[in-house]
This record gives sequence, C-alpha cells and structure tokens, in this order.
Amino acid sequence: MSKAIVVQPGGGFDKVTLTTREAPAPSCGEIQVRLLGSSLNYHDYAVVSGMWGPTEPRIPMADGAGEVLAVGPGVTEFKPGDHVVSTFFPTWLDGEPDVVGFATTPGDGIDGYARELVTAPANGFTHAPKGWSAVESATLTTAGLTAWRALHDEGHIKAGETVLVQGTGGVSIFALQFAKQAGATVIATSSSDEKLEKLKALGADHLINYRSTPEWGETVRTLTDGRGVDHVIEVGGPATLAQSMIAARVHGHISVIGILTGLAGDFPLVNALLRQQQLKAVLVGSRRQQKDMIRAIDATGLKPVIDRIFPLEDIVAAFHHQESNRHFGKIGLEI
Ligand SMILES: NC(=O)c1ccc[n+]([C@@H]2O[C@H](COP(=O)([O-])OP(=O)(O)OC[C@H]3O[C@@H](n4cnc5c(N)ncnc54)[C@H](OP(=O)(O)O)[C@@H]3O)[C@@H](O)[C@H]2O)c1
Repeated sequence: MSKAIVVQPGGGFDKVTLTTREAPAPSCGEIQVRLLGSSLNYHDYAVVSGMWGPTEPRIPMADGAGEVLAVGPGVTEFKPGDHVVSTFFPTWLDGEPDVVGFATTPGDGIDGYARELVTAPANGFTHAPKGWSAVESATLTTAGLTAWRALHDEGHIKAGETVLVQGTGGVSIFALQFAKQAGATVIATSSSDEKLEKLKALGADHLINYRSTPEWGETVRTLTDGRGVDHVIEVGGPATLAQSMIAARVHGHISVIGILTGLAGDFPLVNALLRQQQLKAVLVGSRRQQKDMIRAIDATGLKPVIDRIFPLEDIVAAFHHQESNRHFGKIGLEI
C-alpha cells in the first residue's frame, strides 16, 4: 500500500483526503513508477477546488514524474531506474488531436499522480530531461508542452519573430523561455511591476503592466513599429482576447489557450477579419510533441522556473498559494 490524495465527488478543498492505494505489478505494456514530483496547473485547481469537481472519488494532478520500478512484458522503451514524466493525454501518441476534452486525462477523467506509486500503460510516460529533478520534470506535462506546441507545432516560430506572453503563470513563462531559445523577441505582461522585473531577468525584451496599461494592445503595436506581434500566447481568455487581436499583426498567430478571465465572452469578429488573423485553440499536446520538447531541452539546457515546492500532504496549501496569484512560474509538489 502507498500514500495517495483523493478528492471526493464534486470537489472542494474540504473534500481532499490522504489515503492509501495499491499499485499492482505491471502487466503487458505497463510500467510501475515511484512518483516523486508533480506540479500545479489551473486545470488541477478547477478539479480540486470543485469548479469542475470529479463525478467519482479521484486522485488529482495531471503532472507526474518519478523513477521506473518495474516494467511489464513487451515494454522496451523503459527499464527500472529510468526517470520518466507523464503525458497529459496518455492515448494521444502522435499526429492530429484525437481526444475530446479530459475524459482520458490523469487527475480528471482518470486517476492522476498525487500518489506515491502508479502502475499504468508505458505510453502514458516519456523519458524525463537529463539532470532534472522530478518536480522540474513534472512541470512539462501540462504547462511546458502547451507552450511548446503553441510556438513550434502550431506557430512554426522562427528566429527574429516577436511573441507576446501574458502574465507570469506556468504556461506563459515556459513560452517566454521557448521563444527566447528560438531567437524571438518577447513582449511580456504582468499585473505586478516586481514580477515584470523578474521577467526581464529571464530575457523578456519589453515589459507592460496590464493593470496600469489596460489598452496594452496598442502599446504592443507601438513597440513593434505598428506591425503587431507574430504570435500571442493567449491565456487570459474573454477579457484579454480583444487586446490580443489588436496586438497581433495581420495574419498573426494567436494560440487560444487560457480561461483565466472566464469561459465565454464577446468575440471581436471584425478585428479578426480585417487582420485575417489565425486563431488556433490548443489543448496541451501529443506524446510525440512531448518527446520533441524534451529533446530540445536536453540540447539547450533550459530549466523551468519554480516558485515554491510543497510536500504532497500540503496540496491544499499549495492550491491556496496558486489562488493568491503571488506565484511566479510553477508551483511544485514533492511526493
Ligand atoms: N489549453 C491548454 O492546453 C492549457 C494548458 C495549460 C493551461 N491552460 C490555461 O492557461 C491559463 C494559465 O494557466 P497556468 O497554469 O499558466 O496558470 P497560472 O500558473 O495559475 O497563472 C496565473 C497567472 O496568470 C496571470 N493572469 C491572471 N489574469 C490575467 C489577465 N487578465 N491577463 C494576463 N495575465 C493574467 C497572472 O500573472 P501576473 O500575476 O503576472 O499578472 C497569474 O499569476 C489557465 O486559464 C489555464 O487553464 C490551458
């Protein structure tokens, strides 16, 4: 028996309990992993807080990383001792998206990684970056891969292009790092001048406080000599989309990713038409895209930005920290 966190149906921080679960020996195509790290995402917050509470008792957390303990028959990609990191869509291996919503996502439709031991299909994991801790590796499953896919697989980013990132959450900071790695110029926004200084230290070329400059779309145009940016990492949602469309160039690429300001709102159709912009909805990515990202990380030595790490047992405190918006980058869980 090993430790596991469970959220009861409906969710809510008062419905989070520490319990025990079994992890059987791996059968054909499966691996057994000793989980050592996880990381928080807005999606996990929605499940655990009850915003999108589970319909049955659920082990939360989509991100998981650790060490392989045993492999089942037929598994050739991994061996005991390998460091691995989970995938967001264990059944979406390659090619175009073939999943709808979160029915197959650990921590939502199926049990996730807020636990010590798991036995699961090997396809639900990839090798972790070389030399990264488990908490660092876990930051890639959701936030890292979303940023990577938005810029590379969907945006086909090129050196010399300009990228706008919004706020200082996990996705946006990975996007800043991947964009700089690709040779792009980055314009970064935040509600906090203190956080803007940290973005500068990470390589952001231009900084805008979106609280004191609510019409930041025009500021972005000014910073780009009236042209607009090539890529927007749109995590704000309904309250930021209109500004993002002002900020993006003609035929610019807007990755529609986040819902930080709500689930629905007005769509500025005329802006999109006049500038013939490309809006592409992105839901994390495939296992192949995760492997591509990790190969690039191994080649470049990039490291994730981790704000704070909580022990697994303090998962509720970790979510309260996320809720406070005081964090900069990722919040980790050590298992
Ligand atoms: N589609 C996907 O595949 C996918 C994957 C991962 C996440 N997401 C979504 O992307 C969003 C961000 O996720 P995350 O995990 O990176 O969240 P997070 O780490 O919790 O990020 C929160 C940060 O977002 C910034 N923010 C809040 N309201 C904002 C606004 N109106 N304009 C600009 N920035 C704002 C704040 O930065 P400052 O404090 O600096 O202002 C805040 O600290 C969430 O909606 C999440 O559901 C989508």
